Amino acid sequence: MVSISLFILGALISTVISQECVPYTSSYDFTGYPEIWEKPNSTLFNSAEFKQINSTIDWSKVPKVTPHTLSSSGDIDQTGYSSSDPDCWWSYNLCTTPKAHGLQPDATICPEPGAWGLTYDDGPNCSHTVFYDFLKENNQKATLFYIGSNVAQLPNEAQRGLADGHHICVHTWSHQYMTTLTNDEALAELYYARKAIKYVMGITPLCWRPPFGDVDDRIRAIATQLNMSTIIWDLDTNDWNEAPDGTETSAQVDTTFQGFVNMGLNGTYNNSGTIVLEHELDNNTMSKAIEWYPKIKAAYKYLVPIASCLNITQPYAEANFTYPSFAEYISNG
Ligand SMILES: *[C@@H]1O[C@H](CO)[C@@H](O)[C@H](O)[C@H]1NC(C)=O
Ligand SMILES: *[C@@H]1O[C@H](CO)[C@@H](O)[C@H](O)[C@H]1NC(C)=O
Ligand SMILES: *[C@@H]1O[C@H](CO)[C@@H](O)[C@H](O)[C@H]1NC(C)=O
Ligand SMILES: *[C@@H]1O[C@H](CO)[C@@H](O)[C@H](O)[C@H]1NC(C)=O
Ligand SMILES: *[C@@H]1O[C@H](CO)[C@@H](O)[C@H](O)[C@H]1NC(C)=O
Ligand SMILES: *[C@@H]1O[C@H](CO)[C@@H](O)[C@H](O)[C@H]1NC(C)=O
Ligand SMILES: *[C@@H]1O[C@H](CO)[C@@H](O)[C@H](O)[C@H]1NC(C)=O
Ligand SMILES: *[C@@H]1O[C@H](CO)[C@@H](O)[C@H](O)[C@H]1NC(C)=O
Ligand SMILES: *[C@@H]1O[C@H](CO)[C@@H](O)[C@H](O)[C@H]1NC(C)=O
Repeated sequence: MVSISLFILGALISTVISQECVPYTSSYDFTGYPEIWEKPNSTLFNSAEFKQINSTIDWSKVPKVTPHTLSSSGDIDQTGYSSSDPDCWWSYNLCTTPKAHGLQPDATICPEPGAWGLTYDDGPNCSHTVFYDFLKENNQKATLFYIGSNVAQLPNEAQRGLADGHHICVHTWSHQYMTTLTNDEALAELYYARKAIKYVMGITPLCWRPPFGDVDDRIRAIATQLNMSTIIWDLDTNDWNEAPDGTETSAQVDTTFQGFVNMGLNGTYNNSGTIVLEHELDNNTMSKAIEWYPKIKAAYKYLVPIASCLNITQPYAEANFTYPSFAEYISNG
């Protein structure tokens, strides 16, 4: 158990955001990790630990793709990329079936008709108490894609996600566009995020989601060698893009959610299900998640975490953690 001050314990059980979000210190020691929210750099690459990890990767199985660059606006520059999409680059045309040998397709849907795969990216967030309480009251599990830097800064919040029975996947160390990274950087983003999760939570997730969906066969091949399968999505709520941080109004985000509810009602998902992207990013996104949950539940047959929708009953390397299969999950809900 982490030693934390009583004051902090008070903050943790608070549902007042300003109190929840008071920074705290834990006894976890992140020496040897990348800087919080920073891209791993050469100091780290020269460490004995990284060299050892690097030596376990068979780089001959990783396609030789030159990293992309960011444009001045902060998006990926796609200039000059071949329209034949040789690298199965999701950011280019949403490709999810790899072209390189030996790579599994990304998961993009829950196969079961009427199933809505519930996923929240970017946690753990300091202000998630109300949201996690809500999921718990509804006996609802979700797949949570945790950012390593957030896990390091908020270990107690991360532990709650696992303790509540959610399915935890990796969302990299510092949320970069992965295809813009060198091989060393990409490996470190995945490796240290998962190491932080193992250190704080005791589990080794076998799944990850690329920030911004930005993945290609080079990055998939690195993740594959770390035994991490790639999970994308099929519907994007754009909840992260609400003003003031984003460009959409609250009403626009509602319109998107309403469209997805309509799809559940009008038969769009009669033959297979969906995986939906939402965020544990801030009060806006978590409030939207809570507000729309009852309407989604009424419009879809099943709301399921990804492990269950794919029948993955051992989602971590630690075989003693088991999760319900699809049939078990729905018979319990
Ligand atoms: C590189 O990362 C290390 C931690 O791995 C950090 O201490 C150092 O400040 C970073 N250097 C630069 C130039 O960012
Ligand atoms: C990782 O291994 C590759 C292939 O052996 C090598 O080219 C690269 O320089 C190594 N990276 C580091 C930081 O040692
Ligand atoms: C991947 O899984 C295999 C089989 O369980 C195991 O031997 C190997 O050590 C794992 N690799 C990593 C990097 O976790
Ligand atoms: C279902 O609703 C969605 C969103 O409003 C719409 O795009 C789609 O065309 C509708 N499908 C059918 C079969 O009505
Ligand atoms: C979807 O399934 C429902 C319930 O079985 C049915 O009423 C509806 O007609 C179906 N819609 C489509 C577009 O297949
Ligand atoms: C967590 O949520 C709070 C409150 O909504 C927000 O101010 C903060 O930026 C979020 N933290 C992170 C790391 O996203
Ligand atoms: C969080 O969002 C909800 C819903 O929009 C709002 O009612 C509440 O005031 C917000 N809380 C804070 C502290 O901003
Ligand atoms: C999950 O298992 C059930 C029962 O065996 C099966 O009907 C269903 O097709 C499986 N789903 C997936 C995605 O494997
Ligand atoms: C699984 O085993 C590990 C290591 O022995 C232990 O720390 C953990 O509590 C166990 N977890 C469960 C869910 O049994």
